Amino acid sequence: FGYWGCNGAALDFDPIDPVAATVDDLNVAEGYDWSPIIRWGDPLFDDSPEFDPHDQTAEAQLKQFGFNNDYLDILPDEGGTTGVLVCNHEYTNENTMFPEEQIEDLQRTASVGIAAHGMAVVEIVREAPGKPWTYVRGGWRNRRITADTPFRVDGPAAGSDLLKTAADPEGLTVLGTQNNCSGGVTPWGTILSGEENIQNVLSGPDTPENQRYGIPAEPPSRRWDLVDPRWDGNNEGYANEVNRFGYIVEIDPSDPASTPVKHTSMGRFKHEGANVHIAPDGTVVAYSGDDERFDYLYKFVSAEKYIEGDRAHNMGLLSSGDLYVAKFTGNTETEIDGSGRLPSDGAFDGKGEWLPLVVGGESRIEGMAVDEVLVYTRLAADKAGATKMDRPEDVEPNPHTGKVYVACTNNTQRGEPDKAAADEANPRTNNRDGHVIEITEDDPNSAGTTFQWDILLVCGDPAKDSTAYFSGFPADQVSPISCPDNLAFDSEGNLWISTDGAPGTIGYNDGLFRVDLTGEQRGRTTQFLSVPQDAETCGPVIHDKEQMVYVAVQHPGEDGTFAQPRSYFPDYVLPTRQGEGQFAFARPSVVQVFSLAGGEP
Ligand code: FEO
Ligand code: CA
Ligand code: CA
Ligand code: CA
Repeated sequence: FGYWGCNGAALDFDPIDPVAATVDDLNVAEGYDWSPIIRWGDPLFDDSPEFDPHDQTAEAQLKQFGFNNDYLDILPDEGGTTGVLVCNHEYTNENTMFPEEQIEDLQRTASVGIAAHGMAVVEIVREAPGKPWTYVRGGWRNRRITADTPFRVDGPAAGSDLLKTAADPEGLTVLGTQNNCSGGVTPWGTILSGEENIQNVLSGPDTPENQRYGIPAEPPSRRWDLVDPRWDGNNEGYANEVNRFGYIVEIDPSDPASTPVKHTSMGRFKHEGANVHIAPDGTVVAYSGDDERFDYLYKFVSAEKYIEGDRAHNMGLLSSGDLYVAKFTGNTETEIDGSGRLPSDGAFDGKGEWLPLVVGGESRIEGMAVDEVLVYTRLAADKAGATKMDRPEDVEPNPHTGKVYVACTNNTQRGEPDKAAADEANPRTNNRDGHVIEITEDDPNSAGTTFQWDILLVCGDPAKDSTAYFSGFPADQVSPISCPDNLAFDSEGNLWISTDGAPGTIGYNDGLFRVDLTGEQRGRTTQFLSVPQDAETCGPVIHDKEQMVYVAVQHPGEDGTFAQPRSYFPDYVLPTRQGEGQFAFARPSVVQVFSLAGGEP
């Protein structure tokens, strides 16, 4: 919402059939076609080296599009023929990125890998709205944000002793962002991005706090510590480096010289992302999931109010406010038992409470100061008694209704002997396929601390799984769906869901699905596209009035190797037909899907 409007008919399509997980192709609904906008390694600047996967260097990668694009937004300028693409580069697949003889050269793979993480801002142009974009090499807003980029630490924990290191004795400036998963665009036009699996590249002392965050005591296999000792917190002066990642970061894509910000006000955990909306009272509310089995759902409410048109003021709104964590209570004692039976009151639903962690700048957790709550947020939420969820990933308010949707991607450990049992909000033991929860705030303003909830979808392949549930919509009229991850809405308020993990569960490639939310169609789930073998569908951006959809295709062919690829997406250059300057393997890419009928009338 908020992008330059146009007035075509909303996006309509006949669902595609699910695609077997052995197919290396991107399939879209009939009447649509697709093309990549930008691929891993594409040069961003006038002086960027051309992509050479056989001889990669950090210097080159820093000036090229990074690896494994996850969060995506497409922000057209007024007029709709220019704009920017913003995305996260979440992580690296060394096995497909590097020739086998280079993989043992950890200095090389780590330095290139560091440069392949972070974020990208890329200018895009097109002939007219509804037409495909091309990216602009050398665009003035083009930017790579990497592990070298200085971030200003903001909010109540800025300057805390918990954030100080030998390189930053004031605890106010962090170099870099990494393992950024999902995100969102703010009403004032900045991008929020979530630092998620920070333990992939960080290690630290064996403390209870680091254990709760899954931070290993030894450097993980990527060995970034060989390039810079700060990545291993066991090195003198860097015990706190781990505390400087795991935040929501905010970047301004309209100003390539701006200093991005780390918001401690929203807590530190494995942030999938954050999505904000403006409450009726003008405060800004941000929801964020902690993507770990049995971790929590959080809500931030700004102290100050949004002022239309005052961008400088609005860019400070996430600096101070209240932080809560969710407790869900069911109203019938029920778990899905495979009989297809619903709870006795006809729905998986109940009440909820936002438990305070920080309110009015004060800690609400006994024995923890504010900076401790915001740096060790998981431990604070444990003490508060939050509800253990099935890996909450994207959490997004519907701009049409204010209802909030939570993708719980899966949790195969639910119900294991010493783990939490199924409950009505996480109703499936061994939750392989995930579910989607809908939250309705009792009072959507800043004072509200209670909500109602129900389950929109219990995912699965209804042909094989009687526990799959589509809000009562006939299960034989839906597309099978598994592992809901990223969420988006179209201009009519329909929910769109992209998935991550379906090949290993229902045996189909991951994809993008639309879900109707209202009326008799509520729960109707239809598949719009399917991504190539081993890939995850990320980002989705739905510009339905232009009949355009965008996805970030992450880790295509990730179970292959450089020499023996399992995917040739998106160029499909086969080894026998390899032309000069083209490479026979997969490249994570941002894809645009457009209507063959032309989109904009
Ligand atoms: Fe990076 Fe939660 O997926
Ligand atoms: Ca119920
Ligand atoms: Ca994700
Ligand atoms: Ca995921």
